[in-house]
Amino acid sequence: EAYFGETQPLAGKKALVTAGPTYEAIDPVRYIGNHSSGKMGYALAARLSLLGADVTLVSGPTHLKPPAGVTYIAVTSAGEMLDACLTHFAQSAITVMSAAVADYTPTTVADRKIKKGDDAGMIIELTRTTDILATLGQRKQKGQVLVGFALETHDELDHAKEKLQKKNLDFIVLNSARDEGAGFANDTNKITIIDRNGSMEAFGLKPKQDVARDICARIIPLLETSAG
Ligand code: CTP
Ligand code: CA
Repeated sequence: EAYFGETQPLAGKKALVTAGPTYEAIDPVRYIGNHSSGKMGYALAARLSLLGADVTLVSGPTHLKPPAGVTYIAVTSAGEMLDACLTHFAQSAITVMSAAVADYTPTTVADRKIKKGDDAGMIIELTRTTDILATLGQRKQKGQVLVGFALETHDELDHAKEKLQKKNLDFIVLNSARDEGAGFANDTNKITIIDRNGSMEAFGLKPKQDVARDICARIIPLLETSAG
């Protein structure tokens, strides 16, 4: 796909995008993960690059090929993703956090494969991970645009608005798990963008490439206003 604008509006800007799931190890052969495909984040990285940005894509495990021209950093766990984001955030004019980061990680990782016992059940103790996006929100400086996602199954708008405020975002992209054809594994998505002024725009179901274009179209004017 080509960009038909007169210039590349994001030329000279650095962008940081996260994508995919995180895997939290239980033992050497097992992990706790989720069904994120990474498609939305990879489409965003490709679109930002097409618009001229110098893109770093921090990705959890996916089956996708990194877009051409993007600096690719492969990570596995939420902890590794946090470290990569902290390394790149300060230089990034644009940060889009589309990864499905684990909220909890096993408190200890067994160094040998856990053998099953005679008990009918087992309990794995989990500890909260660091909220990467909230951490970046606290560090955000003037001129930086920070975008997050929210995946909700109920009270979608209230929850998304709360995350927008709490994590100090410029806007949040709401995905409702109730929408058919939207969310993790699909090639399509259906989003609502909610910004700091409380304005809200609901988009139709469309390919993730087109969703990425809609999201980037919202980012460009924010950079222009924060620069001036
Ligand atoms: N996120 C993050 N670090 C985490 C958890 C979430 O950076 N440890 C980011 C996600 O990438 C997403 C946003 O926060 O951009 C919202 O994620 P979501 O799972 O919808 O919300 P949570 O704040 O984790 O709340 P909950 O899962 O309880 O709804
Ligand atoms: Ca979460």
